[in-house]
Amino acid sequence: MELEKLLGEHVQERLATAERFAALTGAGVSAESGVATFRDPNGLWAQFRPEELASMQGFLANPERVWQWYQYRRHVIESVRPNPAHFALAQLETLVPDWTLITQNVDRLHHRAGSRRVLELHGNLEENHCSRCGTPYRQEIDADAPAPPRCPACGGLIRPSVVWFGEMLPADVLADAERAAHRAEVFFVIGTSAEVYPAAALPLMAWERGATLIEINPTATHLSTIVHAAIRQPAGVAMPALVELIAALRQR
Ligand code: APR
Repeated sequence: MELEKLLGEHVQERLATAERFAALTGAGVSAESGVATFRDPNGLWAQFRPEELASMQGFLANPERVWQWYQYRRHVIESVRPNPAHFALAQLETLVPDWTLITQNVDRLHHRAGSRRVLELHGNLEENHCSRCGTPYRQEIDADAPAPPRCPACGGLIRPSVVWFGEMLPADVLADAERAAHRAEVFFVIGTSAEVYPAAALPLMAWERGATLIEINPTATHLSTIVHAAIRQPAGVAMPALVELIAALRQR
């Protein structure tokens, strides 16, 4: 009852009848899996300088340091599991006719939880490519190697296939994400501070076109003033309850 009261009649009506749904997720969705967020008080950017570790400049200045940081992040991801928020989103995909999950996360926990249609705006930690010629690097990565391998094609340094600060997002993925935001009737913003563009523009695009915007985040963001409903709970708690309600509303 608490959730239904919080959402209100109008939002529940849209959850019951809308055809086109989309979601933008951020690091907060993986927090309950034990993966550090970026901007929370104990987040990754509280301990490290993003420009030193998540930029081409930082990589070229000290390839070993950046490579080792991503080896550490890969090790963290291998040791964690999707949490109920990831599984709830995978279930939601089966409940609605038109679903797009847009994520800023590079941990692939949405995939491991069973989500099929996932747009990775910022790449992922599993893939690597040559920083010079761009050739994908598909050889086995030595988890303990302190330095990046060299590209077999040109000898350039191999880098993780994540989008670094100052870099363009994959154009095709961004175009698909913008299309989904333009079409969405319901748009969930889950576990993101919504501070990094162009990802943060997506909820605004949906809202401007009349989508019902629902924020799931224990703390407010600058989107909070325009959302139609805000669930101030951890995603691992809120998402299973929200998906259960949506299933019930759509069966009536
Ligand atoms: N459930 C839901 N939300 C949570 C939880 C949780 N359990 N724990 C924290 N949050 C929220 C925080 O309140 C914050 O608003 O998740 C958000 C995390 O924000 P950031 O750390 O800024 O992460 P994100 O929004 O994903 O960052 C976007 O910035 O550094 C770059 O490329 C990186 O993809 C990342 C991008």
